[in-house]
Amino acid sequence: MKQQLPTTPGPIGVFDSGYGGLTILSKIRKALPQYDYIYLGDNARTPYGTRSFEIVYEFTLQAVTKLFEMGCHLVILACNTASAKALRSVQTNDLPNMDPTRRVLGVIRPTVECIDTITSSRHVGVLATAGTIKSESYPLEIHKLFPDIRVHGEACPLWVPLVENNEAEGDGTDYFVRKYIDELLAKDELIDTVILGCTHYPLLLPKIQKYMPENITTVAQGELVADSLKDYLHRHPEMDRKCTKGGNCTYYTTEAEDKFIESASTFLNQEVSVQRIEL
Ligand code: DGL
Repeated sequence: MKQQLPTTPGPIGVFDSGYGGLTILSKIRKALPQYDYIYLGDNARTPYGTRSFEIVYEFTLQAVTKLFEMGCHLVILACNTASAKALRSVQTNDLPNMDPTRRVLGVIRPTVECIDTITSSRHVGVLATAGTIKSESYPLEIHKLFPDIRVHGEACPLWVPLVENNEAEGDGTDYFVRKYIDELLAKDELIDTVILGCTHYPLLLPKIQKYMPENITTVAQGELVADSLKDYLHRHPEMDRKCTKGGNCTYYTTEAEDKFIESASTFLNQEVSVQRIEL
């Protein structure tokens, strides 16, 4: 039997496979501090980047359903892999049956919308998980808006595990940061803009900046997604009214609570409390 979803206003849901979505959440909260948020990290099953389409879709749908049951009317997939592999299916197959008035938004479209104002050479590189690169979502979305821009992608399968295992600042990480950057740039010497197409990657930014040539602009998604959400809420007052405004954020993880507290506190530079849930 279909479960009745809460109809009263609720927080905005922010979902990621792990800690990466915290880089988006912190920019969203900076731009829109008045709203309430629920952050859900599926840390027990991260990474998603190497998983099949079917599994990423199944896990993402479980997370979205949970966030709806917790009272969210609007959910942001703060995860490129889920945005690439599951967003369209959730929007077209599931939302109409679950509740056609609820909304799920991704992070790829807001990231590419302004890319033509950043690149001069019109040659763009994308660093992302294997799943996102294989889905071709970045070239597809960019070409819908700017058909003349050349796009090359490089999968960075080890970056998410390094971040999830608190190795973002570790010495061994340098090797893999440099390797994927060099491999991407070797594909096209005209690349002048590189999109960090995974929400975990800003946590590696000091090392990425160390190895990215100075003439190349590195684009992180947080502020772009935050601006786009601000604009969305402005254009959709009916959704804005369904989002509570108390300035609070609650955190949920599918992994052990102490592990999340330790890592999330480092990434957010503040102590957070978290509850473990099952999806
Ligand atoms: N942070 C995610 C992304 O933006 C997912 C990484 C993963 O779980 O592999 O793609």
